[in-house]
Amino acid sequence: MATIPHPPSTGPALQTRRPLIVTAEQHILQQQQKHFPEAGGTFSELLASIALATKMIQAKVRSAGLLDILGSAGERNVQGEVQQKLDVYANQALLECLGQRDTVAVLVSEENEEPVTFGRAPETGKYVIFFDPLDGSSNIDVNVSVGTIFSVFRRPPGSEVNSAVLQPGSKQVAAGYVVYGSSTMLVYTTGQGVFGFTLDPGIGAYVLSHENLRMPDHGSTYSVNEAQSDSFPDVYQNFLTGLRTGALRREYSSRYVGSLVADFHRTLLKGGVFLYPPTKGYPSGKLRLLYEANPLAFIAEQAGGSATDGERRIVEIQPHEIHQRTPLVFGSSAEVEEFQRCYKHDSKTARTSTSA
Ligand code: AHG
Ligand code: MN
Ligand code: MN
Repeated sequence: MATIPHPPSTGPALQTRRPLIVTAEQHILQQQQKHFPEAGGTFSELLASIALATKMIQAKVRSAGLLDILGSAGERNVQGEVQQKLDVYANQALLECLGQRDTVAVLVSEENEEPVTFGRAPETGKYVIFFDPLDGSSNIDVNVSVGTIFSVFRRPPGSEVNSAVLQPGSKQVAAGYVVYGSSTMLVYTTGQGVFGFTLDPGIGAYVLSHENLRMPDHGSTYSVNEAQSDSFPDVYQNFLTGLRTGALRREYSSRYVGSLVADFHRTLLKGGVFLYPPTKGYPSGKLRLLYEANPLAFIAEQAGGSATDGERRIVEIQPHEIHQRTPLVFGSSAEVEEFQRCYKHDSKTARTSTSA
């Protein structure tokens, strides 16, 4: 009987990064069994579908220069923004992967004017999902990090589409993003902490690489589009001047990628503060509440950071329109608390000066 040869004793030992590989799908299932046993697998199927769509997107992002997928698709979306070809592809991938799940009642995408319900009776679906299929579109053609952002709610029993999609961010049951950067990372929360997975191209799986991510309680960067600063409300200008002149007794550098997911990911890992204030062009802020601010605010708070529009936590805002915009400030507790202190002080001064 042939004996099985012993493995060669020479040659590189198998480099094992960790005794156990935990894929995103396994982790989601573990999370569900531990925290949502009643979900019966539909929740993890949902997140697995999102993960699949992002693998399809990243395959295009990684070789965009070789495919006819760069540049504009020649259409404008509901926001009036020129759609890039990759916006359209990413949106299609998510609609396809999620549309097959009858647990999905409604999908809301940055690229679709109306909520998408697949013609199924809404009561068949348990979940409402929001996504920004391709965030940072202006950076695609210049090979700078872009991302995908998603947010998951339960559909309130018996709710119509409209009330199901206009829930405050505090009702989210999951949120996450994929950043297509120097590596492709999936970061998500279900309210039990924040976890990061790095896509291993060798096995085509998201593998757990950042267990229980925590945002540092202060940082050394602020992130804002300085070109617009003349039109920021005074409180934002006063806050930024304060950071630069030592209000928090720290030195700060400015970092601004122009892809929200990339600026968020750096802030999550290194701390600091990001601001997209009201500007002349966007008097309510540019970023969208339901598929940009809410999911990132959920993750920021789960990681020990904060996210506000100045008046209140982002997740407390009661939406009135699916594409509504909001001012957005998120980051480490130290910097966001300083911003809120400035905001309260300026609002009080403004109130006393108007009542004088
Ligand atoms: P999207 O590509 O999904 O439209 O998002 C673009 C957003 C966001 O990614 C980024 O923070 C912001 O636009 C940058 O805006 P400015 O170019 O005005 O700074
Ligand atoms: Mn975006
Ligand atoms: Mn987008």
